[in-house]
Amino acid sequence: MESLTAAASLRARWEVAARLVAATRDLLEARPGAGGGEAPHALVARGWDSFLLSLDEDELAALEIRGHDADWPVRTPAALVALAARVREVCTLPALPGAGRPAAPLRQRRGETPRKRAQIDAFARLVAPLATRATRVLDVGSGHGHLARDLAGQLGLPVVGLERDPALAGRARSLSSGASPTFAPTFAVTDVLRDGLSLAEGDCVIGLHACGELGELMVTSVARSRGVALVLVGCCLQKRRQGSRAPLLTLAAPDDGLARALDLPRRLLGLSNLAARDEGVEATRAENLVARERRLALNRLLSEGGAPLRLGSEIDGLNRRTAQRDLSWLVARAFAVRRRPAPSQTAIDEAAAWARVAHAQARRLSVPRALLARVLEVYVLLDRAAHLESRGLRVEVGELFPAAVSPRNLALVAR
Ligand SMILES: C[S@@+](CC[C@H](N)C(=O)[O-])C[C@H]1O[C@@H](n2cnc3c(N)ncnc32)[C@H](O)[C@@H]1O
Repeated sequence: MESLTAAASLRARWEVAARLVAATRDLLEARPGAGGGEAPHALVARGWDSFLLSLDEDELAALEIRGHDADWPVRTPAALVALAARVREVCTLPALPGAGRPAAPLRQRRGETPRKRAQIDAFARLVAPLATRATRVLDVGSGHGHLARDLAGQLGLPVVGLERDPALAGRARSLSSGASPTFAPTFAVTDVLRDGLSLAEGDCVIGLHACGELGELMVTSVARSRGVALVLVGCCLQKRRQGSRAPLLTLAAPDDGLARALDLPRRLLGLSNLAARDEGVEATRAENLVARERRLALNRLLSEGGAPLRLGSEIDGLNRRTAQRDLSWLVARAFAVRRRPAPSQTAIDEAAAWARVAHAQARRLSVPRALLARVLEVYVLLDRAAHLESRGLRVEVGELFPAAVSPRNLALVAR
């Protein structure tokens, strides 16, 4: 495979990331069975399964939290060490101007979490230099309108939030109602995937955590326009109407194998949401791990005597946060929702013991797949960036804020 230098072009970076995705497509597909059991063929074929299953708790935690940056145990198979090095190379992006810490501590504002406040601060610092040439800012998927409000106050430009959800747009308007009319953003209710994104010269299009296809639409609309700038932090790549995502960038020479490998189905795109970090949004990592094991036990109990239940559907009809409660409570609720008699305490204990082993195995066998999750995210970022560059825009990409502020932290700036 080609190697990257710091000064490599976006197209060259795209090609290296794309070839890594293609070469590891079988690993990305190698989701270990919920019940542990047999290791996926892609791991067995590479001779990695026994090493992965031998990882102790500390080694596993280090790999889960630090991924390619972890110190891999000395006994790690050489090909897996080489893959981690390759992943590090692809995922190391230049720092963006304006990324980093704010000059002064940030003051909390009405309705904003500290994380959202930090994201908006960093994002607004990226937008500010572009907006000096803009006549209008369009915030696509504006949600509660925190970003639009911040920018309208800072830039003194018309800022329009576009939001599909009327309740969110209403909330954004009510939160903005105290601002002076000169600096108040406006919010339009529109589904831009259905209604389109109509752009004019002088527009600066922005999206903070614009999910899946929304990000794609922004990129392709800006690529077709004249004199329009774009600042985008994407997320949830699997949120799209079609079943899969084909590359935006056209290959220089036809390569059917590569094109096929890069046609990424939603189930793989969803992998890019896997976050390697200690704190979850609603719970700590340790709490999340225990909750996952509990859900596995519940899934087994609900599947007994019938067809296996799809993983994740065991908490259908319950609030996701109920998975943080203890197993007996969770089982009672899940069986009650389905109007089924609850299993005995012995059956619950047996399912818990089984889930402990199965979950431990599945976590270990998921290490290579989780390692590649960031590669998918970087590949899509570079695909969007190189496509815009091929249409004559000047494009920069990089990390905008630390993962603790949000693991979905990759930004693209095009002008
Ligand atoms: C992940 S949220 C981000 C919200 C906001 N930008 C922020 O950073 O807090 C994505 C937002 O995009 C909106 N959205 C999703 N699809 C949309 C569409 N097709 N048209 C307009 N808005 C959409 C959602 O309703 C949601 O408010």
